[in-house]
Amino acid sequence: MRVEKTEETGFCFGVKRSMRIVEEAVAEYGRIETLGPLVHNRRVVDGLKAKGVGVVTSPEEVSGQVVVICSHGVPPSVAHELTARGLKVIDSTCPNVRRAQQAARDFSKAGFGVIVFGDPDHPEVKGILGWAEGKGLAVSDGRDIAGLNGLPKRVGLISQTTRNPGRLAEFVNRFVTDSMPRLEELRVVNTLCNVTQIRQAEAIELARKVDLMIVVGDRSSANTRELARVCSSAGTPTHHVEGAVEIQEEWLGDRLLVGVTTGTSIPDEVTQEVMDRLERVPSK
Ligand code: F3S
Repeated sequence: MRVEKTEETGFCFGVKRSMRIVEEAVAEYGRIETLGPLVHNRRVVDGLKAKGVGVVTSPEEVSGQVVVICSHGVPPSVAHELTARGLKVIDSTCPNVRRAQQAARDFSKAGFGVIVFGDPDHPEVKGILGWAEGKGLAVSDGRDIAGLNGLPKRVGLISQTTRNPGRLAEFVNRFVTDSMPRLEELRVVNTLCNVTQIRQAEAIELARKVDLMIVVGDRSSANTRELARVCSSAGTPTHHVEGAVEIQEEWLGDRLLVGVTTGTSIPDEVTQEVMDRLERVPSK
């Protein structure tokens, strides 16, 4: 059995940037906290904890003097709350997420209602909605568009950064079909992340030529779930795992070629462990 991985794996530039910011901050201030885990990976979070980086889930929980906003970003109200508590606030919001936040704010200031194509429970989407200044709504699935009540006459549509371009196009299409009679104006800003688009394109290409795909990443990671979804939609059996220990020999059977790709929060050592585990499985 041969194993092939996509060219792009491991941390994206947004996660690398957040890691660098946190490591510089902990070197300067000694003990810091992040609002939410810095990345969707237990091993990385535990490694940072050992260096003095704690994790809190809300502004009230911060017990130290320095807090870092993670790459997913936060609503402006949360950043203000942290500052009002007298904390040193270091913002590591990914520049791609910032673009989406700014698009939401610009639409809101121009009098548009904002629709975010994304998961309403994801921290990034919650943050973006905060930037829409109360005029935003997240919609996860095109099937929910017809049931939207009280849409404003002018709508600005943006997307969670990790969504797939094909799904966004379908969503926009459906939005036009279902809502246009109720609207005066619709504007769309492409807020998709270029890194995730490249990963998804590479993953689909690899999925089409292999017998099985292994997608590595935390189950709570939106970009990893989307990778697993696009690989399955290419018709290739796909397993989403968080690490090498989850790989089961019976999945591999008589597969000749297995593909591997990873989400953007996966350290290279975890990818290597997965590759090693697959390469050790005896061929049948
Ligand atoms: Fe940013 Fe895209 Fe990574 S939005 S955090 S570069 S997945």
